Amino acid sequence: MNENWLHIGPLEDIPRQGARVVKTAVGEIAIFRTVDDEIFALRDKCPHKGGPLSQGIVHGKKVACPLHDWKINLDSGLAVAPDVGCAARYPVRVVDGMVSLSLAPGSAGVPAGESA
Ligand code: FES
Repeated sequence: MNENWLHIGPLEDIPRQGARVVKTAVGEIAIFRTVDDEIFALRDKCPHKGGPLSQGIVHGKKVACPLHDWKINLDSGLAVAPDVGCAARYPVRVVDGMVSLSLAPGSAGVPAGESA
């Protein structure tokens, strides 16, 4: 067992073009679902002023922050130019319709016992 995957629940519990928030040891993480049922996980904090990205609307592979409408790329966590910033991103996967999340890479203070 190389990675710690947190069991989140059924993909169906996440609204299309929306998100579900998971409270973790490293803070709140938003798990987004696109219209095509792709999923992405980002820290639920906009790189601008900390707005709750989970409350934004997903368009394609971007989410619009509900506070000042910055667009954040779901696959990289980077703000779309001309805005600059990055929300931490986490690996997420769907197996048999069930979502799981890894806190390992790119996060602080998680003793996974493995190098990234
Ligand atoms: S806090 Fe997200 S755009 Fe300002």
